[in-house]
Amino acid sequence: MAANATNDTWRPLDEAAANARRLTLAEHFATDPERAATFTFRTGSLLVDLSKCWLDRPALDALLAFARSRGVGPARDALLRGDPVNVTERRAALHTLLRTPAGALGPDHPFAHLAPLAGEVTAERERFLSFAERVRDGSIAAADGARFTDVVNLGIGGSDLGPRMATRALAPYCDGPRCHFVANVDGAATADTFASLDPARTLVVISSKSFSTIETMTNAATARAWLSGALGEAAAAHHLLAVTTATTRAAGFSIPGERTFGFWDWTGGRYSVWSSIGLALAIAIGRREFEAFLAGGHAMDEHFRTAPDETNIPMLLGLLDVWNRSVHRLPSLLVAPYDERLELLPAYLQQLVMESNGKSVGCDGRPVGRPTAAVVWGSAGTNGQHAYFQLLHQGTEVVPAEFLIAAEGHEPHLAHHHAILVANCLAQSEALLTGRGEGESHRALVAAGHTQEEAARLAPHATFPGDRPSATIAYRRLTPHVLGELLALYEHRVFVAATLWGINPFDQYGVELGKQIALGITGDAGMDRNASTRSLLAFLSLSREGHSNAP
Ligand code: F6P
Repeated sequence: MAANATNDTWRPLDEAAANARRLTLAEHFATDPERAATFTFRTGSLLVDLSKCWLDRPALDALLAFARSRGVGPARDALLRGDPVNVTERRAALHTLLRTPAGALGPDHPFAHLAPLAGEVTAERERFLSFAERVRDGSIAAADGARFTDVVNLGIGGSDLGPRMATRALAPYCDGPRCHFVANVDGAATADTFASLDPARTLVVISSKSFSTIETMTNAATARAWLSGALGEAAAAHHLLAVTTATTRAAGFSIPGERTFGFWDWTGGRYSVWSSIGLALAIAIGRREFEAFLAGGHAMDEHFRTAPDETNIPMLLGLLDVWNRSVHRLPSLLVAPYDERLELLPAYLQQLVMESNGKSVGCDGRPVGRPTAAVVWGSAGTNGQHAYFQLLHQGTEVVPAEFLIAAEGHEPHLAHHHAILVANCLAQSEALLTGRGEGESHRALVAAGHTQEEAARLAPHATFPGDRPSATIAYRRLTPHVLGELLALYEHRVFVAATLWGINPFDQYGVELGKQIALGITGDAGMDRNASTRSLLAFLSLSREGHSNAP
């Protein structure tokens, strides 16, 4: 990836931003009848409306010129070609291969050199998908020969968030055993999950790329004890699987090779849902739907690879992220899926965006010149409207919002619910944009029956500044294919933004220090720790022992 941009490189963007902001969003719409059409983009099943963003045509041109100057096109080609784009760890980031259909890389394909590796990927995909099918049809059964009714995925971070979010998102397609997810090492997580399960009917999948993450390995040991305690050790072995790149460690945990599913070092945890890490999801939805999910991801890869910059949606959204964060210096991004089953998308994106791009130094080890990843947050709409949307409309911070909305739900008999959902989603982006001036608020208050005096008193409180930016992603229905398109879109968008910032999105050194300190604390009861940590430890250990006068 290219070296960090200097202030000179950013200047055209700063100037374009200042120019675009001479008009409010409402004024941009009033002066350009084509605005909605100009800033609406389509690919596959997705429509992306950027017309309510702080953009105009010259700003978009400046951003596209910035992308060219930062070498985003060549960087994308290097990513897809399998170059070692993860420069710190000196390896490729080939998650796109996980969703490349078998036989797609023929001799004429630009990435034909990846065909042997793609063959390995296809073989492992075949292994875990046929295993999933056999769990679903009962030919892989519990120790007593009966069908598994429940699957528990033990994993954390990328070994949890992807399959957990996708299983929730695709609930209408879940017709296999029920899937549960335990990530937290907090005993409450395993206790609450196992409380309602019958060990004799439960399959436990230990998902960990490294097979050494303390949370997952602690939960795995507890799960094994739970199974063995109820079924005996020999029978418990029929109820355990491993998904990992560290197959020797899985063998060390007494999980045999035929019950261990692999993936590759070049798959980052947060990019791994497409691999055997998606096993629980595959068991829930079955091979056909899992393949549709992969096909959606692949369709987005092809769009990213081949579409011109001007209509390349991951390119445009990556540019938008840099525009909002580094040019307008907006510190956070609200992701508001008006789609109940995407309620875990914000949590999934927190890892994807913040673990990838929450960096302060570039690939060259030098400090970055501008702010990088935004803080991503959010929850399902419309619930947020009755909680934090107040701040979006009238708070002192501008928070760019991203709405996701389906044309229809999976519940035709509840179409009237969906109509209200759609209306609310569109109303929010319009309200953020238009706002409402004090005079108009005053008139509205009088129309609502307030006296002139009361209306004057209340008008400042009922005034909305407006001119607040948002983007909307729309699709017909949340199918496995659409989910695949969406997730691959977010992955590539993160890559584009990383390239513009000159950072490596594929490492995560920032999570290591806390892990090491935690090991020290569990190992030596806090010797040589910071004074505050020592005092908290003393309180916690005295409280545990029942002393009421703990410091
Ligand atoms: O601590 C961060 C992290 O390394 C993530 O990047 C990863 O997804 C998660 O932990 C889990 O790691 P593993 O799959 O190796 O257990």
